[in-house]
Amino acid sequence: MKINGVSYRSIWRPADDAQSIRIFDQTRFPWNVEILALRDAGAVAHAIRTMQVRGAPLIGAVAAYGLVFALQEDASDATLAKAAEDLVATRPTAINLRWAIERMVRHLSPFSPAERVAAGYAEADALCDEDLQVNEAIGRHGLELIREIWDRKGRQGRVNLLTHCNAGWIATVDWGTALAPIYMAHDEGIPVHVWVDETRPRNQGSLLTAWELGSHGVPHTVIVDNAGGHYMQAGEVDMVIVGTDRVTAQGDVANKIGTYLKALAAHDNDVPFWVALPSSTIDWRVRDGVKDIPIEERNQNEVLFMTGRTDDGRPGHVRITPENSPAANPAFDVTPARLVTGLITERGRCDASEAGLKALFPDGQ
Ligand code: MRU
Repeated sequence: MKINGVSYRSIWRPADDAQSIRIFDQTRFPWNVEILALRDAGAVAHAIRTMQVRGAPLIGAVAAYGLVFALQEDASDATLAKAAEDLVATRPTAINLRWAIERMVRHLSPFSPAERVAAGYAEADALCDEDLQVNEAIGRHGLELIREIWDRKGRQGRVNLLTHCNAGWIATVDWGTALAPIYMAHDEGIPVHVWVDETRPRNQGSLLTAWELGSHGVPHTVIVDNAGGHYMQAGEVDMVIVGTDRVTAQGDVANKIGTYLKALAAHDNDVPFWVALPSSTIDWRVRDGVKDIPIEERNQNEVLFMTGRTDDGRPGHVRITPENSPAANPAFDVTPARLVTGLITERGRCDASEAGLKALFPDGQ
């Protein structure tokens, strides 16, 4: 995707400094576009923990390089195991992190220590290239859904979509998951409009999704997290589409906190609720998402304070609660499969169910 007319992926290895990666510091968007150089495993772990990088697929891609950086210091079996463990521990909910690290370890274990760094770079590069292709395929399958809605509306008015959090190109290597079909629909001339949930407390919607959509010229409106139900009742939402951090073998969906409430409102209003995901987001080892997906609890200051920018361009960080009130800050919730209309994957659409997932991914385990 493009920033100021220049094409970027959200992660890359510069030719003149190939033993490092570049990422955008996502804590600086939308007001500053800052590129960070990462060249050791500690810096990668820090970037993931502090959400300089975020979004399930991108976290996995960055972590894959983090493992290679650790091997650059010491390519022994012991370091491979320890670095893998440390990186997996950086964030608990998005399963792509574990998926990427397990893939890297599986691939690298048979190599001799002398060969591991080169093999690691090649494998991490391949993982990134695949992520891009997978998201493009998700985009094409989701685009069909948007076309169907547009046709059902007699090609009149506009197609109103609602999304929560950020599942766009900067949450993946490129394209995004939930936003990929939206970009494609916009590019082929379907008049889409996106209701963007602000997504408290980190405001990935108002800071990141709105910035992405605006940069691509996609009409959108930022709304507070509590407004979605109102617009659904008013017939102003044709489809909800979100990304996800983990989908269980029976189709339960973990995503940014507040997703579950959107799914309930969609169910009550007969609004289709679709979830876009690469197969690397499926956790075949877990069935009951409500019981068994670990939900990350983040620092209460993310709730107690709001961060933004004053009208004259200064960074603003303000307390929005009484001094002594504590806060709780679960970062994700789980939407049970029964509230999900369907899943959009790189292999096509399916029901959010064990049978649906197995039909598309008979090899899944
Ligand atoms: O805490 P974050 O910002 O990493 O959470 C991200 C989300 O919940 C995304 O919607 C999800 O990872 C899908 S990204 C394609």
